[in-house]
Amino acid sequence: MDLSNGIEKILWTEEQILERVSELGSELTRDFKSRAITPVVVGVATGAFMFLADLVRKIQLPMTVDFIRVESYGSGTVSNGKPRISCELKVDVRGKHVILVEDIVDTGNTLSCLIDYMKSKGASSVSVCTLLDKPARRKVHFELVGEGKYYCGFKCPDYFVVGYGFDFDEQYRNLPFVGVLKPEMYEP
Ligand code: PRP
Repeated sequence: MDLSNGIEKILWTEEQILERVSELGSELTRDFKSRAITPVVVGVATGAFMFLADLVRKIQLPMTVDFIRVESYGSGTVSNGKPRISCELKVDVRGKHVILVEDIVDTGNTLSCLIDYMKSKGASSVSVCTLLDKPARRKVHFELVGEGKYYCGFKCPDYFVVGYGFDFDEQYRNLPFVGVLKPEMYEP
């Protein structure tokens, strides 16, 4: 049984990802170090777990870490467009600078829902740090809150990706790279 069997090609290797994550960590450190209040870094479960773990180790600042769970894809490869917060925050974000950590921004539905949620909870700013962005698939426009900034690791071509947190039917998340699944793995 080989985990990489279903992979057609690698888009970003482990080394390329870690190099970019390190750069993002430096940018976030630089941008947030002058703020009086420590940021709340919120990982969007499940997909962002690996990116979050690597990223926070590259942010040289005191911070709070929490997770939120949003579900929109079910077990298929196409978003059903209705994200649902299925596990709420533990930390109180009122008056705080929130950094939402995502694995990917695709249609924008999830982020739009999360930004509205953080606003409703009284966050003073909401930034987004996503590993991948698929601009070709954007359907929903979202606006950051306050002094929020947008950080992106890589622009992603319009493939269904797996690895480094990305799944197909909850599998492949533990691959250390981001790759493209062979179509026969999800086509009937
Ligand atoms: C994926 C991904 C983002 C979201 C992006 O989550 O992790 O949160 O979709 O898509 P959007 O921009 O079209 O809303 P998914 O629902 O697959 O759950 P997962 O994180 O558990 O894999």
